Amino acid sequence: MDKKRIAVLANLKKNAPRSSDSPLDQWDDLDSEKTVNAIVEAIRVAGHECEFLEGDVTLIDTVRKYKPDLCFNICEGHYGDSREAQVPAILEMLRIPYTGSKVLTLALTLDKPMTKRVLTYHDLPTPPFQVFEDADEPVSPELEFPLFVKPSREGTGIGVSQKSIVSNLNELKQQIRDIITRYKQPALVERYIEGREITVGVIGNLKPPAARRLPEDEDSPRIQAGLMFLPPLEVDLAPFQESDVVYSNRLKVDLADQLNYICPAPLDEDTVQELNWFTAAVFRVTGALDVARVDFRLDQNDHWKPYILEINPLPGLSPGVSDIVIEAAALGISHTELVNLILNTAMRRYGMIE
Ligand SMILES: Nc1ncnc2c1ncn2[C@@H]1O[C@H](COP(=O)(O)OP(=O)(O)O)[C@@H](O)[C@H]1O
Ligand SMILES: [Mg+2]
Repeated sequence: MDKKRIAVLANLKKNAPRSSDSPLDQWDDLDSEKTVNAIVEAIRVAGHECEFLEGDVTLIDTVRKYKPDLCFNICEGHYGDSREAQVPAILEMLRIPYTGSKVLTLALTLDKPMTKRVLTYHDLPTPPFQVFEDADEPVSPELEFPLFVKPSREGTGIGVSQKSIVSNLNELKQQIRDIITRYKQPALVERYIEGREITVGVIGNLKPPAARRLPEDEDSPRIQAGLMFLPPLEVDLAPFQESDVVYSNRLKVDLADQLNYICPAPLDEDTVQELNWFTAAVFRVTGALDVARVDFRLDQNDHWKPYILEINPLPGLSPGVSDIVIEAAALGISHTELVNLILNTAMRRYGMIE
């Protein structure tokens, strides 16, 4: 195999800027040294040269000095509405290839309301919603309590807790106010979907011309060629019914090691096919590349109808912990193999390998 020079680009939690007026959970989506070292090691095991570079402003110099053939990008960024798109934008400017989705997709999908508008345009099922920049805006008649309130542009359950579920106008306003003040961004209010919590990982790229069309109706073929679906993972929230009925920041960060993940999730074959199709469709309409994870809730009050919550084009890759790492393991794919699957998917896309 052709030996390449690969730079792993990430934002380490320990390198994150500190300031006293920011929320405590602000950097919960950044990566640990353990994760980054495991990725670097996986790429070296495959025979490549590999180094880690911090994805901040220093990158402009360090990446030009290192001269990688390709970057393995998992940067979440630090500041701004486009923070996940900033490193890809620099790499585009320097004409350096990189793994995963590009600028437009990363900027779009960090913004949950904007993503939901795209999904709605394509008739993909996502909970009805309204965006609030002010707690006193009138509530759309389409929205009935209970509702769910979360930040428009965060991840890792940041700003999500039991308090996100609101059952009357007072609670709604209070929670909107809280989110706007704490996270300095609009609050996304959705219908609360009571039910099961499922996430589906996907690796690959849709083969053209499938990549350019979605079936117009139920009878058209659902083209998913080029994508490899990982088995659906269910987060078993039953043990936390008293405290957390949603996949909160507390569960994702503080109690991650106590969570019970069921993979493959106990679902009938038709449901798995439907979730895979929605995953492919979301991947397609957001323009994702190489890897992603799509989060769903299945509505227990409506025949377990699936709702798309969001797409994560930079899914966590912590060994033994992150959802898609657990999904890969259920297929017998190790962390090392998973990293190289993603790397090879990108190299193939750039024509660097067959
Ligand atoms: N409309 C909703 N109804 C029910 N639960 C929700 C809803 N939106 C979010 N949640 C819960 O909050 C969690 C985090 O929300 P999500 O939109 O996936 O953001 P994050 O980027 O933090 O993962 C979900 O996994 C789910 O448990
Ligand atoms: Mg999520």
